Amino acid sequence: MSDRIASAAVDGDRLVARLARLAKIGSSPSGGVTREAYGHHDVEARELVAGWMRDAGLAVEVDPAANLIGRRPGPSGRWLATGSHLDTVVAAGPFDGAYGAVSGVEVAAALRGVESMEHGLLVVAFANEEGARGTDGMVGSRALVGEVGDGELSTADDGGVSLDERLIDAGGDPGLLADARWDVGQIDAFVELHVEQGPVLDEADESLGVVLGITGRQAVDIVLRGTPNHAGTTPMHLRVDAMAAAAELVLAIEAMARDGAVRVATCGHLHVRPNVRNVIPGEAFLSAELRDDDLGRLAEGRVLVEGLVAEVDRLRGTTGELTWGQLVEPVDAHPDVVAAVQAAADASGRPWRTMWSGAGHDAQILGRHVPMGMIFVPSIGGVSHAPDETTDPEHLVLGARVLADTLVALDGRGLS
Ligand code: GLV
Ligand code: MN
Ligand code: MN
Repeated sequence: MSDRIASAAVDGDRLVARLARLAKIGSSPSGGVTREAYGHHDVEARELVAGWMRDAGLAVEVDPAANLIGRRPGPSGRWLATGSHLDTVVAAGPFDGAYGAVSGVEVAAALRGVESMEHGLLVVAFANEEGARGTDGMVGSRALVGEVGDGELSTADDGGVSLDERLIDAGGDPGLLADARWDVGQIDAFVELHVEQGPVLDEADESLGVVLGITGRQAVDIVLRGTPNHAGTTPMHLRVDAMAAAAELVLAIEAMARDGAVRVATCGHLHVRPNVRNVIPGEAFLSAELRDDDLGRLAEGRVLVEGLVAEVDRLRGTTGELTWGQLVEPVDAHPDVVAAVQAAADASGRPWRTMWSGAGHDAQILGRHVPMGMIFVPSIGGVSHAPDETTDPEHLVLGARVLADTLVALDGRGLS
């Protein structure tokens, strides 16, 4: 049978309607969608998608890590996997994660008609991809490959609640987390479909991105301690203002990336104590991250940030304390999966390019264990992690069709 019968069977209207339906869960009148991992909106989204999985003929389970998994075995006993996540950052758009998860379900429905499929199909909505409430991200996919750290479950998040408790609330089981682990030797490929979340495809007026690799990310938490004091009586030359010091540090980290030391660097979270107009801030808490496609440059970036904190301390009299957080390593897509995506993109007749992902994905966790690839569709204006994130419905449908063709091609290729 022709590879393209699968893509033709994708129900594009239903995909677009389902994405719109899902975007209502956690939507806010002030704009954006918020489904923080393990919260009730996240669980509600998971239940909705679980129903669609059943409709697509998948057997559904929620594993101990709160991953939603739909599976349909095939005659070879081996598996192809696809999916993404349903959790979001605060005030997100409708498509980051949801697009790949819901498309996976649509593709599963389409592939039901492909009788020659040898592989079974796994469709996954991974838990806590984003790192909700200050936690490390990609917890669900890391559980599938046995990479959730020992202390991680008992550590309190920004809301003062441990991952154990969050998991139980969301229908997971921290005591059985080890059982969530996959036998990755049975999986011949993982392909994640995602909106690009950056401007490259939209600016070039191209329809598809064939992902060659996924950027690395180093998180860091920094506390700067100064001296809280009266805002009216303390002369300017006697102050050790932690917020002013933090402002210098934010700009210095930005300049470091602008100068090219790492691809991007962001201070995305700043909190000061006591956070009152007429008190000189005594402490500033910053969460930042560095991203680069090269692990060595991330290591160099770490040394530079340590130097910047020391310099701010010297200039401002603060005491800085730095805690290096999660390092997610950059990873290459597998050449065979890249080739399958390229062939499917070619067959679509639409313009495509190869590119690296500037965002992180569960695919980069799985990609160190199974052959991995990703397919991108354009984000209009390059907006993501923001309420205005959007993608042309025609591109949403195109990406799902290319995913279907890719999986059929990988099935025939008998990757191992
Ligand atoms: C994941 O969404 C990321 O921050 O790249
Ligand atoms: Mn995201
Ligand atoms: Mn995502």
